[in-house]
Amino acid sequence: MLVHLDFHTGDFESDRVEFLDLARSAGADVVAVLGGSRSRPDAGLYIGSGKADEAAAACAAGEAEVAIFNHDLSPSQERNLEKLLQCRVLSRAGLILDIFAKRARTHEGKLQVELAQLKHLSTRLVRGWTHLERQAGGGIGLAGPGETQLELDRRLVKERMAHLKKLLEDVRRHRALSRNARKRNETPLVSIVGYTNAGKSTLFNSMTGAAAYAADQLFATLDTTIRKLQLPADQEILLADTVGFIRDLPHDLVAAFRATLEEAREADLLVHVVDAADAEHESRIEQVQAVLKEIEADHLPVLYVFNKIDLVLGERPRVERDPEGVPSRVFLSAHTGDGVDALRQVLSELIFTDLFEGEIAVTPQQGKLRGLLFDAHAVQQERVDTQGVSHLTLRLPMARYERVCREAGVPMASAGPALESWEELAPKGRPSKRIKKSAA
Ligand code: GTP
Repeated sequence: MLVHLDFHTGDFESDRVEFLDLARSAGADVVAVLGGSRSRPDAGLYIGSGKADEAAAACAAGEAEVAIFNHDLSPSQERNLEKLLQCRVLSRAGLILDIFAKRARTHEGKLQVELAQLKHLSTRLVRGWTHLERQAGGGIGLAGPGETQLELDRRLVKERMAHLKKLLEDVRRHRALSRNARKRNETPLVSIVGYTNAGKSTLFNSMTGAAAYAADQLFATLDTTIRKLQLPADQEILLADTVGFIRDLPHDLVAAFRATLEEAREADLLVHVVDAADAEHESRIEQVQAVLKEIEADHLPVLYVFNKIDLVLGERPRVERDPEGVPSRVFLSAHTGDGVDALRQVLSELIFTDLFEGEIAVTPQQGKLRGLLFDAHAVQQERVDTQGVSHLTLRLPMARYERVCREAGVPMASAGPALESWEELAPKGRPSKRIKKSAA
C-alpha cells in the first residue's frame, strides 16, 4: 500500500507519478494508494491518527505486506506505524535503498549499497526488541536475552560495517590507481549525469555503440561505466555513464556513492541529460544541481543535453550557444539518433578548441574576477597564499575567459603574478588550439 500526502511543498501530482514509478521499479504490486493533505507532519504517526486508521483499514482490506510512504519517517514513526498497520513500513529512503540493493551489479556497487543499508538499519535497531527491553528486570527470563540479542545485533552490524568499509577502501585504492593512470594519459573525461530515466544510458549507448543497460525503470544504471569515444578529427575522450539522480536522495546513499560519482567529480566536462518531454524538467534540473553540489561537482563546466525531442511537438535537433558563442545546450533524441552527431561536434569543440587552461593569481582587490570565474564553473582548484592571493587553476573556453575579465574590469594579461605564465601561454592573446596546463 502506498501513502503519499500533500504537504504543499512541491508539485504533488508529478511527485505522485514518480513515487508510483519508484514502487514499480522496486517490484511492488500496488493494492491501494492513500492520498490527502496536511499542513505539517504529525510527530508520532507522521500522517496523523485519522489517516493512519484509514491506512490500517486499507492495508487489512488489501492484505498489504508492506506500506510504503513517500516521506522521510523517523525510526520511531516507522515503529508506531508498523504497530498500527500490522505490516512492514518503508520510508522513501528505505524504498530507494531497496531499489539500489536490487540493482547493484558490481562488487563495489554492492558493497556501497550494503553499507548504506546497514547505516540506515543501525538507527532502527530497536525495533522488534523494544518490548523485551521495557520488561528488562521485570519479566522472568526476558531481561537477559532481550538485551543480549539487541546488543548482539548492534555489534554484528557494527562489525559488518567496519568490514565493508575496509573492503571498499581496497576497491577504491585500486580505482585511484587506474584513475592516476588515466590522468597521466591525459585523456579528457566527460561524465553523463542527469535525473533518473532522462535517457543517460540510451545516449551513452548511442554515442559509444556499447550496450549499457537502458530500461524504462528508475535507477536502471547503478554503476559507472566508462568507454573510449572517438570524436571527429580523431580526438579521443573517455565517456562515463553514472547513476541517475533523484530528488531527496537518501543522504547515506549519496555518501556511499560519492566514490562511484568520483568519475563525475573528476570530469573535464559534465553532460547533464534532461528529459525534454518531462513537464517537470526545470525542477529536475535543479534537483540534479543540488546533488552535484552535495558531491562537490558543482564547480565543473556543464553542457545541457535536452533529450527525447522526438516526444516534443515542434522540437528539432539544434545547438544553442552563449552570447560568447560557446555551446550551452544541445537538443537531440538519443532514441532516434537525431542530433547525436551534433553533440559529438560540440564535445570536440568544448574539449579541444580555444581553451584557456592554467593557473592565474588573483589579488584580494580582484574579488569580482574570482567570483565570476567560480560562477562560470571555470575553477578547478584554488590555493590561497599567506598574502591572501588566490591561485586559481582554470579551465574554460577562451571567449568566456575574455568576457569574464572584461566584466571584472581586469585586463586579461594582468591577472596577478601569473602574468609571466599567461604571456607565455597566450603570446598573441588568443591562441587557437588547446593550451596545455603548463603554467604554475
Ligand atoms: P537511470 O538508469 O534510471 O538513471 O536511467 P537513464 O537516464 O540511464 O535512462 P535510460 O537510458 O535507461 O532511458 C530511460 C527510458 O527512456 C528508456 O525506456 C529509453 O528507451 C527511453 N528513452 C531514452 N532516450 C529517449 C529518446 O530520445 N526518445 C524516446 N522516445 N525515449 C527515450
